[in-house]
Amino acid sequence: MATFLATATISIIFLTSIPIAQATSKPVIFAFGDSLSDVGNNNHLPYSLARSDYPWYGIDYSGGHATGRFTNGRTIGDIIAAKLGVPSPPPYLSLSMDDDAILEGVNYASGGAGILNETGIYFVQKLSFDDQISCFETTATTITRKIGKVASRRLRSEAFFFIGLGSNDYINNFLQPNLPDGQIYTLPQFEDLLIGTLENQLRRLHKLGARKVIFHGLAPMGCIPSQRAQAIDGKCVEHVNDYVLQFNSRVKALLTELNLKLPGAQMAFADCYDIVLDLIDNPKRYGFKIAHTSCCNVDTTVGGLCLPNSRLCGDRKDYVFWDAYHPTDAANEVIADTLFADSDVGQVHPALGMAPSPSPSPSPL
Ligand SMILES: *[C@@H]1O[C@H](CO)[C@@H](O)[C@H](O)[C@H]1NC(C)=O
Repeated sequence: MATFLATATISIIFLTSIPIAQATSKPVIFAFGDSLSDVGNNNHLPYSLARSDYPWYGIDYSGGHATGRFTNGRTIGDIIAAKLGVPSPPPYLSLSMDDDAILEGVNYASGGAGILNETGIYFVQKLSFDDQISCFETTATTITRKIGKVASRRLRSEAFFFIGLGSNDYINNFLQPNLPDGQIYTLPQFEDLLIGTLENQLRRLHKLGARKVIFHGLAPMGCIPSQRAQAIDGKCVEHVNDYVLQFNSRVKALLTELNLKLPGAQMAFADCYDIVLDLIDNPKRYGFKIAHTSCCNVDTTVGGLCLPNSRLCGDRKDYVFWDAYHPTDAANEVIADTLFADSDVGQVHPALGMAPSPSPSPSPL
């Protein structure tokens, strides 16, 4: 841990030449995303149908209770926060703006959210990415009121902004035959809409002081249990994986372009496509047994979430997927390890992108 902190400190000083006292403070994380990153925001939205505040969600989380995380244990974001030596930031909707906790990071992610406002419309209530950015705007104003302009600007420019969005724009929008976007737009038009909207959103975040952005690319969604259940042969849906690859490469290009155009921008693309595909193709290589279906015996015709009356598998560590959409805690750990060691991310953010250390134990959650 000592080596890690020293390296992180040196890189931060090197990058921004800020005073040492500041550089030794803990990293601040602002997280934006969908159900893969939600840590309880939707628990506070009474009409939301995208929720996980009931058993068996959280069965392997500290305490064994559902927290609003859409998995049996920790999210990828929880694990990365621990690797950075900080607690996973709390859900925005659980915080009062009077609370000084907002100075240490906030999670805005909301199950069902997408880049587009209309994504996930049938979940009734959720925070879309635009909504999440507005919540961050409120946070930023409050931080400035608490600690003053200069310190607030520095806090925001040094914070990590983790963003994981886009899955629902396909799964719970474009690919749904009964929703309009799949009818109105061709695939290239829909991609243009997503990338154009994302560009505006990233520019807005930059205006609000975000500099260090890590965008999580999409996983091979054609291979998640909910998609396989729709394939006649139970195999991965290849055209969905092609959509994902195309989306990922366009986001990567967008980030490169924004890094050139926006002063101080350090936006990195964290690619998890290959590792998730390898987990699915070769689960045994990572200590798993089953990757084609989920641990929780969900009914994909009624949503694919793990409802209280669902049957669980024998050993949750044997499965890559927890429900029809979300990886297990054990799989999230493998994915987080790979993302943390991603050298492309490391080039932009030396505090991340490090080879997995010979395991100083992560901080408690
Ligand atoms: C999405 O909705 C928000 C209000 O929640 C609005 O401010 C924003 O302009 C909308 N975005 C688009 C692209 O229509």
